[in-house]
Amino acid sequence: MEALKGVRILDMTHVQAGPTCSQLLAWMGADVIKFENPQGDATRGQLRDVPNADSLYFTMLNCNKRSITVNMKSAEGKAVFVDLLQKCDIIMENFGPGVLDRFGFTWEKIHELNPRIVMGSIKGFGSSGPYAEFKAYENVAQAMGGAMSTTGTPEGPPFVTGAQIGDSGTGLHLAIGLLAALRHAEKTGQGQYVEVAMMDAVMNLCRVKWRDHQRLTRQSLSEYSVPTHQGMGAVPRAGNDSGGGQLGNAIRCKPGGTNDFIYIVVQEAVWNALATRIGAELGIAGLATDPKFATIGERRKNQNDVWEMIGEFALKYDKREFMAILNELDVPCGPIMSTEDLATDEHVKGRDMYVELDHPQRGKWYNIGMPIKLSASPARVERSPLLGEHTDEVLKQVLGYDDVKVGALKTAGAFSVPPKKAAK
Ligand SMILES: CC(C)(COP(=O)(O)OP(=O)(O)OC[C@H]1O[C@@H](n2cnc3c(N)ncnc32)[C@H](O)[C@@H]1OP(=O)(O)O)[C@@H](O)C(=O)NCCC(=O)NCCS
Repeated sequence: MEALKGVRILDMTHVQAGPTCSQLLAWMGADVIKFENPQGDATRGQLRDVPNADSLYFTMLNCNKRSITVNMKSAEGKAVFVDLLQKCDIIMENFGPGVLDRFGFTWEKIHELNPRIVMGSIKGFGSSGPYAEFKAYENVAQAMGGAMSTTGTPEGPPFVTGAQIGDSGTGLHLAIGLLAALRHAEKTGQGQYVEVAMMDAVMNLCRVKWRDHQRLTRQSLSEYSVPTHQGMGAVPRAGNDSGGGQLGNAIRCKPGGTNDFIYIVVQEAVWNALATRIGAELGIAGLATDPKFATIGERRKNQNDVWEMIGEFALKYDKREFMAILNELDVPCGPIMSTEDLATDEHVKGRDMYVELDHPQRGKWYNIGMPIKLSASPARVERSPLLGEHTDEVLKQVLGYDDVKVGALKTAGAFSVPPKKAAK
């Protein structure tokens, strides 16, 4: 049985941060009703690759959901919303600050209408503090949560990371909070408000940088490949340093293309084996016993020499060949995988992590699969809904409305785009 079977979610989320969370919950079996602005989630039309078809931006984040469009700027639409609130276990949203309040539905009001319901909110900066009123997107959160200032090289500009830690990372945090609050509600009969700020989530994901921030008050950071000193204040950008106690770096391999690199962790336990293999092939006698590299402390001090030797060795092999050599020596490593490498990788295919789907508007397409594997409740990945595809179904099946009521609501504009405000 699906783990969240019987849990119904009123999902008002849009763009990426919220939909990431609700898609995961849908993959775990929750009935996720995507409650859309009649204009549709803006991502349906963003970065389109097929004319008039929902974009991949939308389809990849909204699988296994049902879509209903409701005009929250009409009294009839609000009444449908209130009816749905009574039938759901979770409501979630990631509107800009104050949007739901302006509709007349504060958390207090929602709690009053359905005391059991759990509410999840994502905001850029949360509902309190000097930044509370600001909107946010992925890179704003990466900038303000400490990720950008610690990514890149000291002499270059700060960089964003390709992993969507501000949006999808926040969505993951919300999923954990919602499941905890749901368990609490099942025990007590009382729902609660779960808030995750994107900035907070990024700070959480940068936790080890805060370890180093505090260490800097007492010492330089000997494992960093870039200069550090006691009292320097901000943690510097440190290129491809491992970020942990072991030394690590990305090493260029044959034939030297954009992604012909391998990431190697020179774990303390493997130095002897690695040095013996590299030393023999490069003709460096006694590398494994050389006092310059004998301890982790010495290797940290002389890490540029370590990278140079490994780099010279690596140029004889492509990243897969080098991986095979390192795997035999039990050296933790990973070739830098391009999206093309991953799309054709047997391991990825075997774990259902690149899943082929069909879609009425776009035909065949692929989604990244469910990364959380439940042994008794495997996920079934199903296509995203068209805009309003399930409006009638939800009104009748979940709310018990009849044709007459549905027709009257339609005529009243409950499911249509609100009329534009007249210009003053
Ligand atoms: C992402 C974000 C910047 C987008 O900003 P935006 O496009 O201006 O959208 P907002 O969420 O502020 O506003 C949504 C609008 O749609 C309207 N709307 C939403 N659902 C509606 C519905 N069912 N019926 C009628 N109108 C609806 C809202 O009333 C609001 O319009 P208003 O400004 O006239 O009140 C903003 O939503 C945000 O900061 N969200 C929180 C942080 C976040 O999640 N960011 C990451 C997104 S990946």
